[in-house]
Amino acid sequence: MRIDVVSIFPEYLAALDLSLIGKARRQGLLDIRIHDLREATTDRHRTVDDTPYGGGAGMVMKPEPWAQALGAVLAAAPDPRPTLIVPSPAGAVFTQAMAHDLAELDHLVFACGRYEGIDERAIDWAREQFDVRAVSLGDYVLNGGEVAVLAMVEAVGRLIPGVVGNPESLVEESHSDGLLEYPVYTKPSSWRDRDVPEVLLSGDHARIAQWRRLEQFRRTAERRPDLLALLDPATLTSAERTA
Ligand code: ADE
Repeated sequence: MRIDVVSIFPEYLAALDLSLIGKARRQGLLDIRIHDLREATTDRHRTVDDTPYGGGAGMVMKPEPWAQALGAVLAAAPDPRPTLIVPSPAGAVFTQAMAHDLAELDHLVFACGRYEGIDERAIDWAREQFDVRAVSLGDYVLNGGEVAVLAMVEAVGRLIPGVVGNPESLVEESHSDGLLEYPVYTKPSSWRDRDVPEVLLSGDHARIAQWRRLEQFRRTAERRPDLLALLDPATLTSAERTA
């Protein structure tokens, strides 16, 4: 998968050199290119923002550097019409389902806004060349899109075949089946007077699977009842319905 990220803080994206995503880059599974928006400016001060029309607090990112930078990404794109993701608290909320959708694509471009956002005309222009999606990490406000890009690239990148060493670990994890993950334990079996649940030491795989599934329901009911409401009750056992 090819990923281009445009930002005024390219150093922010240095974390994409680390861990599994960094390894996937070195293996050629992910071709991630970071671009400095200021390289697309033409004035001495490398200006990327200006005051908002209509007044109000803060600054707005100017359209010209964005069109220049995204045009350059497009000119070097392997395919026509890549997907352009604009991280924004005003976007659709990023989910595991969205991560799976994006992982099917060959080329993602991320435009990291800062300040009060990007002049809407640049986004309108981009819609002619890209499939544009405004995406929010959640209902809170960050100072810019970079942290959101780190999260989204990691969530999408780990779904690309080969990036996570054991693909089984992608199956039993939070949100893979609409539920939160069950609690996990490792050695020692007893630690500071706390014992690992007996069932996990039993070797009885059917009982373990049943226990884990029930724990998923308990945890989801306690922490994320909104997720339970999305499940089809017809697919649940009576123990699961009352968990
Ligand atoms: N930029 C600022 N806040 C954001 C958020 N919540 N999600 C994505 N990008 C953002």
